[in-house]
Amino acid sequence: MAEFPSTIFPKARARVEAMKEYHPPLGCRDAMRLDFNENTVACSPAVREVLARISTENLTRYPERAPVEAMVAAHLGLKPENVALTNGVDEAIHVLFEAFLDAGDELLLPVPTYTMYEVYATATDAKIVAVPAAGDLAFPFERLMAAILPKTKIVAIANPNSPAGSVATREQIVAIAERAPQAIVLVDEAYFHFYGETVMDLLGELPNLVVARTFSKAYGLAGLRVGLLASGVENMRWIRRVLSPYSVNQVALACLPAALSDSEYLVNYVAEVLAARTEFETALDAMGIRRWPSRANFVLVEIGAQHAEFVRRMSAAGVLVRDRSSDPVCDGCVRITVGTREQMRRAVAAMEAAKETIELSGVRR
Ligand SMILES: Cc1ncc(COP(=O)(O)O)c(C=O)c1O
Repeated sequence: MAEFPSTIFPKARARVEAMKEYHPPLGCRDAMRLDFNENTVACSPAVREVLARISTENLTRYPERAPVEAMVAAHLGLKPENVALTNGVDEAIHVLFEAFLDAGDELLLPVPTYTMYEVYATATDAKIVAVPAAGDLAFPFERLMAAILPKTKIVAIANPNSPAGSVATREQIVAIAERAPQAIVLVDEAYFHFYGETVMDLLGELPNLVVARTFSKAYGLAGLRVGLLASGVENMRWIRRVLSPYSVNQVALACLPAALSDSEYLVNYVAEVLAARTEFETALDAMGIRRWPSRANFVLVEIGAQHAEFVRRMSAAGVLVRDRSSDPVCDGCVRITVGTREQMRRAVAAMEAAKETIELSGVRR
């Protein structure tokens, strides 16, 4: 074999070379995890029972998604052709962008928002047009409407949005979809169960609407990686062309029917989180810590210059929270997932201890 020149490597696409690697701060998370907006307790026991029965045969076969996809569609009141299961909403975003974003297209992105929109869009040949929120972090509706152009190809709206838990109203989403008929309007309802409002029922009326949902949050199945995209058959046709038929694995498919059937578990978990959020917000107000109103299972707080030290102190006290200070408009901010009331009382105790020794400039005096 000829000797290989050690200085020549295959070149990646210019777009990919320009990308930064994205490393979410996972690492050692052996503490109370209020950093990734996961379910902080567990999935339904019905899912655990299915997991205990997974056989070697299950693992040997390629996963067959169609029957479970049909079941999930029926659960949502949709037809099977309107739903595609994905490897989490992350894959949903990836395939949607792959299917629709071409060179010269624009992706409109209200910011701050979920990081993966930017990651996947950067890998395409489209241009990202960020539309920043004002300091109240409310959905920047007017600015977004003004930014819609003929080359707008996707508008990505997380609803509720992360990191603040703010929402776009149904009327605003309809107005955007009507203003941009040439564009896909993605409404990412990852936190739907905590918010309770959806635009899924508008799929028949708005041909450019695509809705995403996940099993990672309220259902407590982030590790299984299951999400979905729902839209009209025309859009679904293109999405299915770029979606792997095997990306949702056999174990996940086996568990989904059990997760869907245990609605009591879901209702109870969501009720607990909402009660905990109210109690937590009251405690934050009592501590004088600035916060943003949230419709999801997390609250964004302003800590100020010592945000990194605050996150370290919380971690040392056994509570993981997420530094969002480098997000646009979020200087000095930290996002705290809401779990159960008991967990949030522990979080408040850790915050009070941190407040004793470090200056929280977000604190109103
Ligand atoms: C708005 C939003 N969409 C999607 C996701 C990821 O969902 P999944 O775990 O299904 O990939 C997250 C995770 O934090 C999120 O905040």
